[in-house]
Amino acid sequence: MTEVKGATVAAQQGKRARGSSRVRNAVLWDALRRVLDRIAPEGPSDVVDVGGGTGGFAVPLAELGHRVTVVDASPDALAALERRADEAGVTVRAVQGDAVDLPDLLGEGAADLVLCHSVLEYVDDPAAAMAALTTTVRPGGSVSVLVAGQVAAVLHRAVAGHFDEALRVLDDPAGRFGDGDRMPRRFTRETLSELVASAGLTVGELHGVRIFADLVPSGLIDAEQTGAAGRSHGGETRAAEALIALESAAAVHPILRELATQLHVLAHN
Ligand SMILES: C[S@@+](CC[C@H](N)C(=O)[O-])C[C@H]1O[C@@H](n2cnc3c(N)ncnc32)[C@H](O)[C@@H]1O
Repeated sequence: MTEVKGATVAAQQGKRARGSSRVRNAVLWDALRRVLDRIAPEGPSDVVDVGGGTGGFAVPLAELGHRVTVVDASPDALAALERRADEAGVTVRAVQGDAVDLPDLLGEGAADLVLCHSVLEYVDDPAAAMAALTTTVRPGGSVSVLVAGQVAAVLHRAVAGHFDEALRVLDDPAGRFGDGDRMPRRFTRETLSELVASAGLTVGELHGVRIFADLVPSGLIDAEQTGAAGRSHGGETRAAEALIALESAAAVHPILRELATQLHVLAHN
């Protein structure tokens, strides 16, 4: 059996994801490493990735030896996931279905860790989906929820010069800037925490993900695009490394984290 050490998650993910995608996901992978270390320090965990899509999280977790199931509504996404898993030489169980049907699809208490990343923005009923996540996680297990941040959308619309839309995002209970907004809803720290707590989970750490990374030119942080200038000996730009350090520190800052493009909460059963 593949030895699983949570401490290697970030390192392996670091080798895989170069440049800006590594910067964008560093805070998340650090959080996942810590929670996997806590749940099962010596061995693999059962992980269910709800709305796991093409396997951006599921496949690296399977490569680390975890038993990973992806439940997703999209057959196309699951087909892409299976190709990605094949290429990586790992097995990921793919189940087509809706998040709210998790208890029927997998049974109660199927997972030590449930991921639900960038999905609650789109589901018909976020409270029903959260309740299904709670049923799926075992006692002592954790749920990792990642959602789009409403405050960041205000900032991003304003910085782009769309001041009317920025005002609408600020005022709209769903955090949308109008009919042209493809995101059905966004969350604040309060609305996310309420959603998680209402499902019966204990709200743990809250992180801001991508506080600065989406505000700076990608060329500054993507080593593969910037060429030799500014590269460290490890192949990453010094700017990227400095930005990861800044994002990590700011992720738990009580004010800065609320400005993040995505809000991440670790909830516990
Ligand atoms: C933005 S993608 C996120 C993919 C992945 N979680 C990630 O973070 O890279 C949203 C995914 O959620 C899936 N999805 C949307 N609504 C769903 C639902 N009600 N039940 C299950 N999956 C759903 C979509 O098919 C899609 O694969």
